[in-house]
Amino acid sequence: MHDDFRRFITKRRSIRKFTGGAVDHELLLTALEAAMAAPSANNSRPWSFLIVTEPEKVRAVCRAHPYASFGEEAGAVILPFGKKEGHRWFDQDMAAATENLLLALANLGLGATWCGMSEELQAGVRTVVALPDDLFFFALIPVGVPAEEKEPRTQYDETRVHWERYSAIS
Ligand SMILES: Cc1cc2nc3c(=O)[nH]c(=O)nc-3n(C[C@H](O)[C@H](O)[C@H](O)COP(=O)(O)O)c2cc1C
Repeated sequence: MHDDFRRFITKRRSIRKFTGGAVDHELLLTALEAAMAAPSANNSRPWSFLIVTEPEKVRAVCRAHPYASFGEEAGAVILPFGKKEGHRWFDQDMAAATENLLLALANLGLGATWCGMSEELQAGVRTVVALPDDLFFFALIPVGVPAEEKEPRTQYDETRVHWERYSAIS
């Protein structure tokens, strides 16, 4: 049981090589369902998701991000977005949904990488996929049939764990 759970969590690695094959629509829907099961402050669920699958558009949106050009052969790009302004917990809520999404994609056999989106990166991506001004792209996630395998790993570090009280690291 613990081993199954550990396998589930550590299966998620950043995959940046794709076969170029299409991504199954049902798998995307299942992953989106997982994303929307995430916790959010006051259950406000500020998230929406823009999904690009047309190959030309996938290429263009990946090129519009300085660190996502590896995604040109992806079968899809998922862009979680929402109304950031006036939403105090926006980043935390969106991150929870994004991590759920990535865990689901990995365990459904798809490869994906979370590419961060900042204020400066909004304009470039919007030249490919338009979005009203009051909405914010939170992440850009190329998703595809994986053409690389990565070792699951925990990265557990006991020096990061403080039981009962803070203890200085010597
Ligand atoms: C907020 C955030 C932004 C990231 N941005 C990028 C990115 O722009 N391009 C990229 O290739 N990887 C990006 N990554 C992926 C990290 O490089 C990756 O998660 C990290 O190296 C650990 O590797 P792993 O995901 O395989 O465990 C990002 C990850 C996070 C959480």
